[in-house]
Amino acid sequence: MSERMSVLLNKKPCYDIVFTKGFGGLPEELAALECGARKLCVITDSKVDELYGEEVLRLLEGKCAKAVKYVFPQGEASKTLDTVKDIYRFLIEEGFDRKDMLLALGGGVTGDITGYAAATYLRGIDYVQIPTTLLAQADSSIGGKTGVDFDGYKNMVGAFKMPRLVYMNLAALQTLEDRQYFAGFAEVMKHGLIKDAPFYEWLIENMYEICERDLTVLQEMMVRSCNVKRMVVEKDPTEQGDRALLNFGHTIGHAIEKARGFELYHGECVALGAVAAAYISWKRELLAMEEYYEIRDMFVPFYLPISVDKLDVQEILRLTKSDKKMESGQIKFVLLKKIGKAVIDRTVTDEEIVAAINEINFSEEDAHA
Ligand code: GLY
Repeated sequence: MSERMSVLLNKKPCYDIVFTKGFGGLPEELAALECGARKLCVITDSKVDELYGEEVLRLLEGKCAKAVKYVFPQGEASKTLDTVKDIYRFLIEEGFDRKDMLLALGGGVTGDITGYAAATYLRGIDYVQIPTTLLAQADSSIGGKTGVDFDGYKNMVGAFKMPRLVYMNLAALQTLEDRQYFAGFAEVMKHGLIKDAPFYEWLIENMYEICERDLTVLQEMMVRSCNVKRMVVEKDPTEQGDRALLNFGHTIGHAIEKARGFELYHGECVALGAVAAAYISWKRELLAMEEYYEIRDMFVPFYLPISVDKLDVQEILRLTKSDKKMESGQIKFVLLKKIGKAVIDRTVTDEEIVAAINEINFSEEDAHA
């Protein structure tokens, strides 16, 4: 059975998140957004297009003024202003005007690019998120962050633009490759760790079903995970304060992602960054030692890394400090006071960061210990 959750902006309903098990409910949801006389453009990447592009386009036919599809090459390398320019050109050729709408069908890259195109084309048109990866369903499709990478900096150019709807087909999670699925799971774990200890315990209790991708358990998991994200973005939609808690694991994580030339997936780097941040939290006596080791070891059954070989510690430190999460020259670090309670801290020193990077730096010595 489908479920829905309303996300508020300034205390007023802004958009709904629909949790369901197919694309069949999409026409009805779009009808509720009065799409009958509007042109719709599905924006998707080459991989997702092969899986769902035609199915979604067919569902829209006859339900709107015109339905078209724009496909770009799959991968982070497409998350640039050049792709956005190509989308503008396509929309102009297809005669899209202010009342028309974009549909982002795919993962985080698709959602971020489409959202940015929607935020800027004709000074802003509507868009809908139809996330198909776990990363996008758990995190990037909710909260209106849109943007592109620029000159090697992730998400450097962007805008806040709330979607009109987030439509989650949970069955799409069953078609993901294992590595991609589990990488996305790091963001789900993050939500439990920063805000919801009972949810974190529930994830561990339901480990088997989550790994097997049981649809009933996936639905409960996504509703609870999105509820954490909803609460955070409702309170602080434009990241003036507490929304930065969602960056738990991302400060060192982004640095590793960049240092490794994106060979590790984003969620894998978030898991590594979460272990590093939990380590600093333990060393500061915010977390007990047992809590640190529990946090670290609970990534393992979900096939997420807790160490990585041959990290260049000084390079990671430098990249950590050049991240856009810096504010007036200080790093906004997210630490854990306990499982389910994260705090923002601006006093983390280089020495603490180096010790944390060493903790996740796999060495031959550890392997033989
Ligand atoms: N992905 C973090 C946020 O939405 O703020």
